[in-house]
Amino acid sequence: MNDCAAQHYANLAHNYDDTWAHRPEYLAWMCRHIAARLPVRPGTRIADIGAGTGLFLRHLIGGASAQSPILCVDPSAAMLAQLPDDPRLHPVHASAEDVAMGQATLPYDRLHGILIKETIHHISELGTTLKGLAELLVPGGHMLVVTLPPRLEYPLFHSALDRFAERQPAPQDIADHMRKSGLITSYGYEEYQVCVDRDHWIGLVANRWMSVLSSFTDEELAVGLAEIRHRYAPGEICFQDRFAFVLGMRP
Ligand SMILES: C[S@@+](CC[C@H](N)C(=O)[O-])C[C@H]1O[C@@H](n2cnc3c(N)ncnc32)[C@H](O)[C@@H]1O
Repeated sequence: MNDCAAQHYANLAHNYDDTWAHRPEYLAWMCRHIAARLPVRPGTRIADIGAGTGLFLRHLIGGASAQSPILCVDPSAAMLAQLPDDPRLHPVHASAEDVAMGQATLPYDRLHGILIKETIHHISELGTTLKGLAELLVPGGHMLVVTLPPRLEYPLFHSALDRFAERQPAPQDIADHMRKSGLITSYGYEEYQVCVDRDHWIGLVANRWMSVLSSFTDEELAVGLAEIRHRYAPGEICFQDRFAFVLGMRP
């Protein structure tokens, strides 16, 4: 993880969950789409790479058991510190790259499932890392990448939207890497309409809730916030949140 991302998550960890925790219907929507592609059942060995605070995992652990806990892999100690204390979650302080290169100690040799949600843009050497991760899957095991597409419809300021797009891998490229790693791959999109009070949204942006926002200086961010205030009237703003779900299966 680069220094900017490490600092970003260290700063954000204690209030990361505030972004969505008060929207249980959104969390349930997301987890339904994850579970439809990557079922969590007692005995399945699953690793969530970039698990963060486990905000979404709380809705998925119903199917897990303490005997085969979900591995919550993350290089940010601050994010992992927010994981619920639950025997069905097993924290692993490591990066995707460490796991892919066999440099992390895992309690499982092989995995039935790998989830990478909103983390793929932080992973370096994407082709090599996904290949190393794919090799950990049992035959019939699945890798699911849930990610935002490069072009967002979020009510952000323009330079943030552009910088996000420059850094975000396209779902097609992720699918190609998975295919080259030997996985049978498909992908599709799911959409969710988010309605948020403009001033709450400005508060989230000011708090740099997305990692791309941590790449702007305080002055640049202030200009960006003024742009949002100018473009959107006080009251509710609605926009489409669109996620790609890239699924690979090891034959
Ligand atoms: C946007 S958060 C997503 C957290 C969680 N998956 C979720 O959806 O709530 C991104 C997470 O990726 C982690 N991360 C950053 N670089 C990583 C890497 N190289 N390998 C694995 N995780 C990484 C961060 O520490 C952070 O917890």
